[in-house]
Amino acid sequence: MTTSGESRQSSPIVEARGLRKWYRTGAVPVEALRGLDVAVQAGEIVAIMGPSGCGKTTLLQCISGLDDFDEGEVWIDGVPLRGMKDRQKADLRARRTGFVFQAYNLLPVLDAAENVELPLLLAGQRGKAARERALRALEAVGLEHRARHRPNELSGGQQQRVAIARALVNEPAVVWADEPTGNLDSESAAEILDLIERLNRENGQTFVLVTHDPRVAERAHRILRMRDGLIVEETQSGVASGWPARNQNGHPTTSHASPAPSNAPER
Ligand SMILES: Nc1ncnc2c1ncn2[C@@H]1O[C@H](COP(=O)(O)OP(=O)(O)OP(=O)(O)O)[C@@H](O)[C@H]1O
Ligand SMILES: [Mg+2]
Repeated sequence: MTTSGESRQSSPIVEARGLRKWYRTGAVPVEALRGLDVAVQAGEIVAIMGPSGCGKTTLLQCISGLDDFDEGEVWIDGVPLRGMKDRQKADLRARRTGFVFQAYNLLPVLDAAENVELPLLLAGQRGKAARERALRALEAVGLEHRARHRPNELSGGQQQRVAIARALVNEPAVVWADEPTGNLDSESAAEILDLIERLNRENGQTFVLVTHDPRVAERAHRILRMRDGLIVEETQSGVASGWPARNQNGHPTTSHASPAPSNAPER
């Protein structure tokens, strides 16, 4: 289960300090993250926004342990990622986190239930119990009746919901999502956002959402704006009336995001 109601209320569930990341694959190296600091508290919904190419996906991949970084440190549940073996990182991801990728990344030859079951198989769970959990996750996103359909038999919004069910099936404490409403019509987007809010409220799950979509940002507790590999602005949302539901015992939210310079242009 998630742990946001447990003992880690005062320390961030995810934290990065001085994060630097270079891509050296092309002719000219690109510094995608330039010494970025960020902290996410358990039970938060955080939106990361900013212009194309500013480093949002890179940040998500580095703070989730999917990709390596060059300098700085990332802690998940207070455990530093640097120095962790790939297998340990994979294990941490499998146990504690779920991913929703922008391009859904569903496997076309598997039906919805099989796609959702994948993280459980990777975590060593098989058989009837795994199938039942997958079906419950599909039910949570309103798609139990589409369990036997393959991705090409589903609409874009339905595929996105399968991707979300897959991210949720192992009941992760943190869900990372890159453009969870990208390419969705407003009705499907609203459904996804309602679902995220409900899971956050009922299970205390933490969501870190990369988005260009103001509708997503509106529902976030906190908006971090990035530019050129740094977080340049942080906005606390007034919408978060019920939050932090599990962090109230004298543990106010903190963030290490640098405040925006007062003359920073709005992006
Ligand atoms: N695999 C890669 N190899 C080389 N450069 C890359 C690679 N991935 C990203 N970059 C570069 O790193 C920078 C940050 O890219 P990133 O994908 O994190 O941006 P983003 O904010 O997610 O953009 P978008 O909103 O368009 O998805 C960009 O300049 C991009 O060109
Ligand atoms: Mg991106």
